[in-house]
Amino acid sequence: MQNQLKAILEEAKEQLDKASSLGETEELRIKFLGKKGKLTEILRSMKSLSPEERKTLGQTANSTRGQIEAILEEKFAMMKELQKATKLKSEKIDVTEPGSLIQLGVKHPISITIDEISKVFMNMGFRIIEGPEIETVFNNFDALNAGPNHPARDFTDTFYITEDVLLRTQTSPVQVRTLMKDNPPIKVISPGRCFRCDTPDATHSPMFHQVEGLVVDEGISMADLKGTLDSFAKQMFGSNAKTKFRPHHFPFTEPSAEMDVSCFKCGGKGCKVCKGSGWIEILGCGMVHPNVLAVGHVDTEKYTGFAFGMGVERIAMLKYGVDDIRLFYENDMRFIQQFK
Ligand code: DAH
Repeated sequence: MQNQLKAILEEAKEQLDKASSLGETEELRIKFLGKKGKLTEILRSMKSLSPEERKTLGQTANSTRGQIEAILEEKFAMMKELQKATKLKSEKIDVTEPGSLIQLGVKHPISITIDEISKVFMNMGFRIIEGPEIETVFNNFDALNAGPNHPARDFTDTFYITEDVLLRTQTSPVQVRTLMKDNPPIKVISPGRCFRCDTPDATHSPMFHQVEGLVVDEGISMADLKGTLDSFAKQMFGSNAKTKFRPHHFPFTEPSAEMDVSCFKCGGKGCKVCKGSGWIEILGCGMVHPNVLAVGHVDTEKYTGFAFGMGVERIAMLKYGVDDIRLFYENDMRFIQQFK
């Protein structure tokens, strides 16, 4: 048995020396020291020996176990080191390699323009409100005094969802909602999306943005309208900007006007941007029609108001020299990033 133990130790040494992975080492541990291992087998068979023999053999067996354990410990440590080294090698990162650039988002030029317009009006004490893009035909047309045969109601101009519901064609229905909900004094602007059945081209898009304005109070006159909008033009386009009001027609205002701004490209001399006239049309406006005030149960004997509406894309195009409205919706980062 002494010889057997010696042989086991030799065998263990030899096989552990060849083991080349953690798994193999563990297998050998079980083979030699496990419950059904070679050493255990010998210890079991010691029962048949005399106490004397058992004592000496027991000592040899313990020392054999100790030696195998020591070799195993060393081998396990070595294998773990090896495993770590292999892992480190496979996960190696070359920090000197050029990285991939993370592209940061920027504000869209339409948002930038809405923010700029909003800031000017906020500084004049206007509140900013929003209305829904899906509107009733009543709010979008009837309440705004558009007659039953008004051409804008046409199926070819308006996206109808049902007979009574549509995608708003203008931000003006927010005026109706405000008049029905709030009491004067009212001083609000409302930016948002609008929709019309237009075939996209350089100046048309089926979706676009407007900023609506509404002021209702005692004693509001056309002079307030002109003063407010002239001040807006000077803050938006530069202190040298001049304004001009031309008579126009809108169903929801009386009188109605369109406001032109002196061309901010040529200063009024005439150029390509203003098509030689020196003026650029910027918005529609007027004194709120009594029929519209009446929908909101405003006392028309006591209160008057003015309203205005402007196209955001048009202002952005003029201001930034963009010649095709479709560029705003293509999400080409090379275009969008220019407006930072
Ligand atoms: N809603 C008009 C449009 O889409 C713009 C407009 C004109 C709004 C005059 C107004 C206004 O509030 O008073 O063409």
